[in-house]
Parts: sequence; structure tokens; C-alpha cells
Amino acid sequence: MQILAVDPEHPSPDVLERAAALLRAGALVAFPTETVYGLGANALDADAVQRIYAAKGRPSYNPLIVHVADTDAARQVARAWPERAARLAARFWPGPLTLVVPKRPEVPDAVTGGLDTVAVRVPAHPVALALLRTVGLPIAAPSANPSTRISPTTAQHVAKALGDRVSLVLDAGPTTVGIESTVLDISGDEPVLLRPGMISAAQLAEVVGEVLTPEAAPADGEARRSPGMMARHYAPRARVLLVSAENEPMAHFAVREEHQRGATVGALLRTMELPADRRVRMPDEPGAYAQRLYGALHELDDAGCALIVVERVPDSPAWAAVRDRLERSAR
Ligand code: TXA
Ligand code: MG
Repeated sequence: MQILAVDPEHPSPDVLERAAALLRAGALVAFPTETVYGLGANALDADAVQRIYAAKGRPSYNPLIVHVADTDAARQVARAWPERAARLAARFWPGPLTLVVPKRPEVPDAVTGGLDTVAVRVPAHPVALALLRTVGLPIAAPSANPSTRISPTTAQHVAKALGDRVSLVLDAGPTTVGIESTVLDISGDEPVLLRPGMISAAQLAEVVGEVLTPEAAPADGEARRSPGMMARHYAPRARVLLVSAENEPMAHFAVREEHQRGATVGALLRTMELPADRRVRMPDEPGAYAQRLYGALHELDDAGCALIVVERVPDSPAWAAVRDRLERSAR
């Protein structure tokens, strides 16, 4: 595995050409997006795509997101491009929104887990966009972490977790959004929000009207659930305990218990005080919190924490995506 530093705003054409050559040859290249680092392969090459599943230990039924340089390239993998897709793309691309649309037969089943839809997005990171333009291919890329573990927000997270399973990592420093894109299924009659992200349901509703949750979707709801939304996900090695500020005594009890066994305890706190060994003071605003979250979990995991106590975040819509990731990591 090789790590090459790139300027986040002006990546060198030589480095991009090198990465593109590897991708054309069927190798895996990890690259930054505005959300998290992706583990990329040529989306039209079924063998290359298989290498992604092998590297991540990802079940083959969990489909991948196809990254493209612009809306025209998205239409090359989509069998239909509904009016809704055009409006959403115009409003949110490049950006952290993934659209699930009917797929063209050229997209291998390996990418979509055999579904007749494909997830596609135009990322907002200059390095990702420059790479997509240089390679001139759609790039399938899940988050560059072993299946069910914490997503990477730095090149070092990728290197640590995947090592020689990836040929090249482009290092443009930490990502800015910090959690994965919003996934919206627009392949059916009603838009269905499959994964919350920093583009909120309310923002989507401004463009396409009411957005359903998978539970609320009509008869075909079961099929349209995101196969990847496994219960435990985004998880550190440590046990994660979510505690609200009103339950502070419970958090103290849990810390004491771990200390009695000689274990190291970490904590992600906003307002609470807690005698944990490693405390990370988290931001009070959802955007800044999301940007910091995975890095903080990686740090506490690396410090060997057996338990990570996380102070719950507010119940409001602005915190929905962060809440979703915290709840999944605590299962
Ligand atoms: O921000 C992101 O989306 C990052 C960066 C690298 O772009 N990628 C990412 O990929 O988070 P991944 O593979 O970790 O998550 C993809 C999600 C999964 O929940 C998967 O089940 C869902 O998208 N998905 C992909 N194709 C789908 C499809 N055809 N129908 C329904 N859900 C799909
Ligand atoms: Mg992932």
C-alpha cells in the first residue's frame, strides 16, 4: 500500500493520473470525499468490484454507491432519470446526497447486490471530482473501512484498517462533513429516505415534497429498505454507552465498574463531567459534531478503551443524522 499526499484544493495531475491508471487496471484506490474516505474501484469491472467486498469483508448483498463526475455521467448508469432526480441533482450536487434510481444493465450485479436499482452520487471534494474526471469511469466506492466498523475520515484511518488490501491511498487530510451521505431512494412512487445524513429530510422535502422513512413506505417498502442498514454499524471495538445528561449517575456507575476491572474508559461529552480516562469535548452544533465524531471514536478505540460513554445529543431534526450514527454504534 502506498499513501500519496495531495493538495485538497489543487491535486497534482501526476498523482491523479497514477490513481486513474491503477483504477483502469482493476486495482483499489482509496480517495477522500467531503463525507468520508471511499474505497474505489471501476464500477463497470465486476472483478474489480469483487475486490472491494473482499477487502472490506462486506456481505455481497450490501450494494455500493457509484461515484460520478456530473449529472450526465450519472445518467450513463441510470436506466431512467425522473424529473425528481433532475431537481435533486440541480439543488444538491456536487454534495453529500446519494440517489437510488433504476439501473442500466451495464452496471454489474456485483455493484448493486443484484438489485435493479443503483445508488449514485457526485461528491463535492475537489480531489474526488478531479479523480473522476481524470479516470473518466464511474467509480464504485463504499466507505474505506472493514464492514461494520467506524468509517475513515483521514487517510491514516484507511491505512490502519485496510493496509495492503488497498493499492493506493490519496491523502488530502481530514474530511469536512465527517459522516456518510444521505441516501434517498427515488426509484418508486414516493421518495424514501434510506439513510439520514447532513442533507436533512426537510431540505429534501423542499425539493420533492414529502419524504417517507422505510417503515412508512407503501407495499414495496420491504424491498426498498437499504440492505446495508444493518443494526450494528459504525462501531468501535469498545462498548458504546449512550447516556443523557439527566442520567449522569448511571454514567458514573458504568465508569466506576470499568475502573474496578482496570479497564480504560473514554467519553464523548458536550455538557456532562465524567471521570473517564480519555475525554473528548464535542461541539454543540451538529455540523461540527459530525465532522469530529469518527475521528474521536478512532482515537478512543486506539487508546484501548473498553467502554466509550457518549453523552446523548438533542432530539431535534438538525441532529437526526448524528443521532442515527450514535445509536447504531451503541447497539
Ligand atoms: O458518503 C458516502 O456515501 C460514502 C462516500 C465514500 O461516498 N460512501 C458510503 O458507502 O457510505 P457505503 O457503501 O458505506 O454505504 C452505501 C449505502 C449502504 O447503506 C447501501 O446499502 C446503500 O447505500 N445502497 C447502495 N446501493 C443501494 C441500492 N441500490 N438500493 C438501496 N440502498 C443502496
Ligand atoms: Mg460504510
